[in-house]
Amino acid sequence: MKLKKLHPLIGAEVIGVDLRHPLGDQSVKFIRRAWKDYGVLLFRNQAISDGEQVSFSRYFGKLELFPQSQNRAIKIPEIFRVSNVDEDDQIRPIDTPEGRYSTLIWVWHTDSSYRAIPSKGAILHAIEVVKQGGDTLFANMRVAYNELSMELKQRIKGLKARHNFLYSRSLQNLPPLSEEEAAMVPAVYHPLVRKHSDGGRSLYLSQTYMESILGLEFDQGQKLIQELMQWATQERFIYRHKWKPNDVLMWDNRWTIHVVEPFDHSSLRRIMHRTTIAGTEEVLE
Ligand code: OGA
Ligand code: MN
Repeated sequence: MKLKKLHPLIGAEVIGVDLRHPLGDQSVKFIRRAWKDYGVLLFRNQAISDGEQVSFSRYFGKLELFPQSQNRAIKIPEIFRVSNVDEDDQIRPIDTPEGRYSTLIWVWHTDSSYRAIPSKGAILHAIEVVKQGGDTLFANMRVAYNELSMELKQRIKGLKARHNFLYSRSLQNLPPLSEEEAAMVPAVYHPLVRKHSDGGRSLYLSQTYMESILGLEFDQGQKLIQELMQWATQERFIYRHKWKPNDVLMWDNRWTIHVVEPFDHSSLRRIMHRTTIAGTEEVLE
């Protein structure tokens, strides 16, 4: 296996591995290491089945199940369908809740930050891609934190954001969840600055879910969120991925954030299958 950098600050392509087959210990170690070092890994030309994707994903941890059944693949619940096409092969119009739901990823986020223990990473297999728009952008939050001004570092020290699954839905005017579903996703608080096991720090931002900042007035909190988002998503921190069918991307949700570029949601088809690797620890300050 070989690595080829995708961008000076984030991402590498992994060359010389076939994800359809079980991997040996050395290969798994190599990928774990590269995932840690580069934050985003690309594997090209991987015609994997959902089952093979799940098997590959399990080398990196336990898998999350999405809290609502709506976007889970019917046969394999560990597969989260990221798509504007439903399992009956119909496009989800943008004026329906299902259609609007799939545009939530057009806002910067890190996956499942609404959980008390958010996801460690995710693996996304491109099945159908669009020609116009639909790129996925990834930004390096370690560098974004390191290069922050002393003033802003001081200002956000010790602050926590409220991450709320229901807030993300309200952004798109989605109907309320049932009481039972809502009870599965209570709001949680995470520090804005995350400390990693190697001693490094990163910003921990997830605009789709970040409702407010603990201890600040709502407007003040939103203003700070905007300011941080604007800083953290500067061009120079970002790798832009242009998809080809059977690309597999694997990212670290602890110190990278991502967003999907809007595309013509009512006529183009985009189908991606995601597995989500569960986290093992709280977001430490
Ligand atoms: C996701 C997501 C990116 C994409 O699956 O978490 O944000 O390119 N998707 O569809
Ligand atoms: Mn995502």
